[in-house]
Amino acid sequence: MYKIAVLPGDGTGPEVVAEGLKVLDAVSEKYGIKYEKIHYDLGGEKYKKTGEILPESVLKELRTVDSIFLGAIGHPDVKPGILEKGLLLKLRFSLEQYINLRPVKLYPGVWTPIKDKGPESIDFVFVRENNEGLYVGEGEFIDKGTPDEVAVQVSRNTRRGIDKCLKYAFEFTRKRNKRKQLTLVGKTNVLTYAFDLWERAFNEMGEKEYPDIKRDYAHVDATCMWMIKNPEWFDVLVTDNMFGDIVTDLGAMIQGGMGIAAGGNINPKGVSMFEPIGGSAPKYTGQNVINPLAAICAGGMMLDILGETEASKKIEEAVMKVTPKLDSLSAGKMGYSTQEVGDLVVKEIVG
Ligand code: IPM
Ligand code: MN
Repeated sequence: MYKIAVLPGDGTGPEVVAEGLKVLDAVSEKYGIKYEKIHYDLGGEKYKKTGEILPESVLKELRTVDSIFLGAIGHPDVKPGILEKGLLLKLRFSLEQYINLRPVKLYPGVWTPIKDKGPESIDFVFVRENNEGLYVGEGEFIDKGTPDEVAVQVSRNTRRGIDKCLKYAFEFTRKRNKRKQLTLVGKTNVLTYAFDLWERAFNEMGEKEYPDIKRDYAHVDATCMWMIKNPEWFDVLVTDNMFGDIVTDLGAMIQGGMGIAAGGNINPKGVSMFEPIGGSAPKYTGQNVINPLAAICAGGMMLDILGETEASKKIEEAVMKVTPKLDSLSAGKMGYSTQEVGDLVVKEIVG
């Protein structure tokens, strides 16, 4: 019996989470998976009412669950940064979810902005470091408010943190067994401290422990170029937190947009958290038009990490049968409502 914490969050989060759970229920029934859902009402609305973002008591409870299923965080009336730092990043850091796993896969029938590229060319995975880099929030203002003001923002990269992330990335590449190629995405020509360490750690670990994995390096700017020009070159890519944030939005766009992109915040030995990577889309709230496939795929990733491989595969197969039926993956342009898309996936699962 798994304990799953459900955090629907803000905006359209609750709508897509409902569809994700509908699909999880269907697949669990089929494969005999038992789980208990524990709902937590966190996010912008709660913050506005009570001033609370993530109470200590809730964080304590979240440490005891098997997994967390998150909708979206972000509220138009709350200043940017408050909920992101107080909830999403706080969870990623406190629960030591040091991996952010973001597959970029173009499903059948899905439109991509890249001309002449199809599903056979767009299928790779980003392993984004999720606990360090610029996201540690270290820095300072000097002479704030004066013409001489300086703002310093520090990227902290620890050998231990990098090694943990690289180990996951190498193991993942081996297990995926596609091209057995791991690309380190960095900026060794400018960030000569941070990516010097990343590169040394990458090569040392690869040489010693993963001789079967082909090592490859690309600067982050060139990576953006090649993701558009030759996406088929990539298999698994590993990078730091900030670059990973940026390149995975580009990745989401080439796989059909935020309606389909899912991510996992993973602590391989602890509590992981799965989310559709699009935001709370306040302007679409309550309209039943947003695409729930990203949330549904996040549920599939969750099952995979929990070790329910068959059930996870079944969700992906079902999604791949549904994508060709949709006019588009964009909100309001699917040809179906949010709930209907959930129903279509369920129908494929119960068959
Ligand atoms: C993401 C988001 C977050 C990030 C924000 C909301 C803090 O953009 O999950 O990619 O920057 O990591
Ligand atoms: Mn992002």
